[in-house]
Amino acid sequence: MTSLDTQIPSDLATTSEIAAGVAQFLSPVVRDLEALVVNGKQAHWHVRGGSFVGVHETLDQVVAHAQDYADTAAERVVALGLPVDARLHTVAAQSTLPQLADGFQSWQDTAAAVVRQIDAALVTVRAAVTGLDDIDLSSQDVAIEIERGLTKDRWFLQAHLAA
Ligand SMILES: [Fe+2]
Repeated sequence: MTSLDTQIPSDLATTSEIAAGVAQFLSPVVRDLEALVVNGKQAHWHVRGGSFVGVHETLDQVVAHAQDYADTAAERVVALGLPVDARLHTVAAQSTLPQLADGFQSWQDTAAAVVRQIDAALVTVRAAVTGLDDIDLSSQDVAIEIERGLTKDRWFLQAHLAA
């Protein structure tokens, strides 16, 4: 096999500028979603009170979806040839999610706290939707899919608190 066999035709190749732009917007999305996975499980384990089952089970869905979304976003960056830094210390240092309270929490406080976690992640995701509009539409589509899913998960959690 010659080197020519593995070359992508120039009109199909993603430029390094495009890949860098995608990484710039999707890497923070990956880190916020990985933080949501960790904090979502923390909340899942420590919720208490009358709506325990509903919130406990909804949080497992939030976590499962966040892990899937993180995987999709990370693999889009890697598919374009760049690495993603979602190591534990990087996520802890750079995630935009607010601090989660320690220990057991009421179901009301738990639901409200995780809605705030999702809201922080949504700011990052929506910045990616906007920023990727001029960079790469397939990557923007990834961000849009995540925005739609996260907003639905927020609704499922917020509905526990609605009057
Ligand atoms: Fe569990």
